[in-house]
Amino acid sequence: MPDREERFRVMLDVVEAAVGPSPRVLDLACGTGSISRRLFARLPQASSVAVDMDPTLMAIAKGSFDGDRRITFVTADLSEPGWLDELSAEPFDAVLTATALHWMQPDPLARLYADLAKLVRPDGVFVNADHMPDPGTPMLNAIEETIQRGYEAKARAAGAVDWEEWWALVAADPKLADEYAASRAILAEHIQGVTHPVGWHTAKLTEAGFPESGVAWRSITDAVVVAIR
Ligand SMILES: C[S@@+](CC[C@H](N)C(=O)[O-])C[C@H]1O[C@@H](n2cnc3c(N)ncnc32)[C@H](O)[C@@H]1O
Repeated sequence: MPDREERFRVMLDVVEAAVGPSPRVLDLACGTGSISRRLFARLPQASSVAVDMDPTLMAIAKGSFDGDRRITFVTADLSEPGWLDELSAEPFDAVLTATALHWMQPDPLARLYADLAKLVRPDGVFVNADHMPDPGTPMLNAIEETIQRGYEAKARAAGAVDWEEWWALVAADPKLADEYAASRAILAEHIQGVTHPVGWHTAKLTEAGFPESGVAWRSITDAVVVAIR
């Protein structure tokens, strides 16, 4: 993803401008903690609660932040209605997520948005950087696909691995054998998610209780959607 860092920059521009230099952040579907790492690099006074359901990615995240008191980890499945019970009642200045919510089915995602409206403090922000293609622009989407494949081929030639190859490396690491087995079991149950165009997200965020939402960045098929609580 050639513009991945640009998305994170835009996300953190929004956070800093909206809620200041020491936000309490929820890193939603945190994976290995990519957002929290960039958050702390830019805003060292920030704190983060990082939530994910994947044992392997959480193990890597916990290891890489070992000893950093600014971050805490919560294991929860965001598709389950009770996931909020795993968090304290303290509100967040910002909820941030990237390349993750397209894994969720529409109803659980709409319910998640309603939960987030309860978690974000008034004037706080929710920022979602994700794949949000518009089914009404198939030719444009095909052009974006071609552009992405071109970047991927260059990255691959330079030695980068893709998501599947990265998991194959994890599978070959005996130190992560238990976590990998647990991840496989969870993924086996996981239903493939669906994407929605930007307008779906902004409409659901309005319904959920975010009075204002819009786009902070976009390419043909991807976007950074921001909602103000
Ligand atoms: C592609 S990774 C992105 C991680 C990180 N945000 C990043 O950009 O590097 C997607 C993450 O979403 C998490 N995820 C997907 N569905 C989830 C759910 N229902 N509950 C919790 N985490 C979920 C996966 O476990 C994975 O860590």
